[in-house]
Amino acid sequence: MLDLDKFYNKHIQEIQPYIPVDPTEELVKSSGVKSQDVIRLNANENPYGPVEGILNEIKTSDLSIYPDSLQRKLRSSLENYTGMNFSELVAGAGSDELIDLLFRSFVSVGDSIIDCEPTFGMYNFGARIIGAKIESVPRNNTWDVDIVGILSKVTPNTKMIFLASPNNPTGNLLNEKDLLEILKTRIIVVVDETYFEFAGVSLAKYVREYPNLIILRSFSKWAGIAGLRIGYMISNSKIIENIIKIKQPYNINVAAEIAAITILSNPELSLEKVGIMLKDKRKFESELSKVKGIKLFPSMGNFVLIEFLDFNSTDVYNELASNGIFVRKFSDTKLRKMLRFSIGTTNQMEILISILKKILKV
Ligand SMILES: Cc1ncc(COP(=O)(O)O)c(C=O)c1O
Repeated sequence: MLDLDKFYNKHIQEIQPYIPVDPTEELVKSSGVKSQDVIRLNANENPYGPVEGILNEIKTSDLSIYPDSLQRKLRSSLENYTGMNFSELVAGAGSDELIDLLFRSFVSVGDSIIDCEPTFGMYNFGARIIGAKIESVPRNNTWDVDIVGILSKVTPNTKMIFLASPNNPTGNLLNEKDLLEILKTRIIVVVDETYFEFAGVSLAKYVREYPNLIILRSFSKWAGIAGLRIGYMISNSKIIENIIKIKQPYNINVAAEIAAITILSNPELSLEKVGIMLKDKRKFESELSKVKGIKLFPSMGNFVLIEFLDFNSTDVYNELASNGIFVRKFSDTKLRKMLRFSIGTTNQMEILISILKKILKV
């Protein structure tokens, strides 16, 4: 019998997989509720989906040809939207692919990265795939990054520092002063602005001043096309050129490309949905802020993290799931008593508030 194990990189063989969200059919099976009654509030998706007209654009595009490897039309549309230059932009199959490409560009086995937990799990996952060391610098009680801790972990082997703003799952922004302090390390600093449109605040203005700064953005959340997988990177032209050199030539499929270009031809239409979700987030926060025994963390994203002080968060999770509402739970100790609620449609949020109030007996 051929021993396949001996071929694997040791760190790959031992890797713990990233835990993705389940498709709706699986949620139906596990909860016993009907498909139309499932409310997905566990992946910060945008339940309104994309603006009208996208499907028609996809239908009339030529799916028989490969997409443009240099993403010319898409990068021109992004130029207008971001105010950056063509050479400072490149798209990826979601921010996720761009995170992966950054690891391949900058990190080797034995190097290290700095991760400020709790945060998005893909930075940690990317490091483990490469076989890099993860220096975890926990955030403080208000979820701000610990600058002194970060600076103390920098060594000649440190290759990247990951900072999400707004951070997932905590919802807070990276403050500008902290970023400038971290940029002085001259290590590659990745600011993940996947939720930028909800926060309306960006640190991209520092890209031209600091050659070590990389910004990531996405169409998954604000524009409602998580299923098409498209995001983009803003950085200086040298970093962008190198990403273009190593990426899969046709990483953005024709459907995703045309969808993004259509969205960018009138971003206001998608931003209207963002406005509705922000309004519903405020309503959710105001309804729940009156409830004793729970703590809400202020969020600049399309999600809210809640700590259940006088309730068992697993019971709350299970009761919500038995009603067809799926939220995000966490296994790490610091977040064990917390659940993250994505903002759904106005109707979904009304159902959530009413069921949650029943569960919490208010
Ligand atoms: C902070 C953060 N970055 C990146 C992503 C991945 O986004 P995309 O769908 O563009 O790959 C997510 C998704 O939840 C996220 O929360």
